[in-house]
Amino acid sequence: MRLAALPRFPLAQLPTPLEEAPSLSAVLGAVRVLVKRDDLTGLALGGNKTRKLEYLIGDARSRGATVILTEGPAQSNHCRQTAAAAARAGLRCVLVLNSPASDPPLQGNLLLDYLFGATVHLVTERTARRALLERLAGELEQRQERPYVIPTGGSTPVGAAAYVRAALELSEQLVERGIQASRVYLATSTSGGTHAGLALGAKLLGAPFRVVGVAVEDDTKAIREQVATLANETAALLGLDIRITPEEIVVDDRWVGPGYGVPSSETLEAIVLAARTEGLVLDPVYTGKAMAALVGQVRRGEVAPGETVIFLHSGGAPALFAQADQLATVFRNGVKVAQ
Ligand SMILES: Cc1ncc(COP(=O)(O)O)c(C=O)c1O
Repeated sequence: MRLAALPRFPLAQLPTPLEEAPSLSAVLGAVRVLVKRDDLTGLALGGNKTRKLEYLIGDARSRGATVILTEGPAQSNHCRQTAAAAARAGLRCVLVLNSPASDPPLQGNLLLDYLFGATVHLVTERTARRALLERLAGELEQRQERPYVIPTGGSTPVGAAAYVRAALELSEQLVERGIQASRVYLATSTSGGTHAGLALGAKLLGAPFRVVGVAVEDDTKAIREQVATLANETAALLGLDIRITPEEIVVDDRWVGPGYGVPSSETLEAIVLAARTEGLVLDPVYTGKAMAALVGQVRRGEVAPGETVIFLHSGGAPALFAQADQLATVFRNGVKVAQ
């Protein structure tokens, strides 16, 4: 495998801890939950993007880039981490963010984008991001800059390769500790890089666990196709003779709730449950929904008694502060959490 040959700019504290979650396990009953703490990757409040950015910034530097451009919603964790990674690498960072408000509140990830010195361009529609990003890259090129454009979520084969490495890391931790895990839960979307890398890594290793992507937006078919395509492109980049079909990609789409970025009551309950049992900080967009799926699957009896499952905590805490209102409503109305 050509993973070690990829240029890499060190940003992350690895391996991330694999922690037992005994109180959460006790509340759920009959299953053992462990948390893979990728919220502790160490860069700018952590998260899954740090791993990807090690390879993306490595690639940018090897191509002589002077400026990094990327896109996302105003509360994008990926954009916040990219701004911080660019600062660490001494590169300029330009972000194109979408928000329905012309002047969105300066908090959560958006606040941090400015803190890390990124130049922020706002558009109202997600669909307007790409064209502006390309125009800005073109203008920079004309000014003798060398732009490096990272697509949404850093989900390119170079970025996804980081999660093949994470699968190897997790597998090593499990073997070292003699733990047989049957499932790994993670938040997934039409970006899909984390899911693609983990699914490819798991297949490469013949891992005993099934990678369960929990959809945080509608369109399961598109997620499956994107994850499989990206996994195959990543396999080609790494020189692996492995193919993954969309049918092999496991997506649980029952926890999306009202839509991308909008938490359901299950999401909010899962956030509160994880906080009050394990002191974990989950977010309303990604990890809260992934935890809602884990909890929901156990409660519905879909996870057999005695199974050991892993929850990939992919970060996202700054978004919690940006959506404080929703949690405040929960606290005001009293929270029903099984304990
Ligand atoms: C906290 C968090 N978890 C999960 C994801 C999904 O990762 P990916 O873009 O690799 O699908 C993201 C993406 O932004 C994220 O911010």
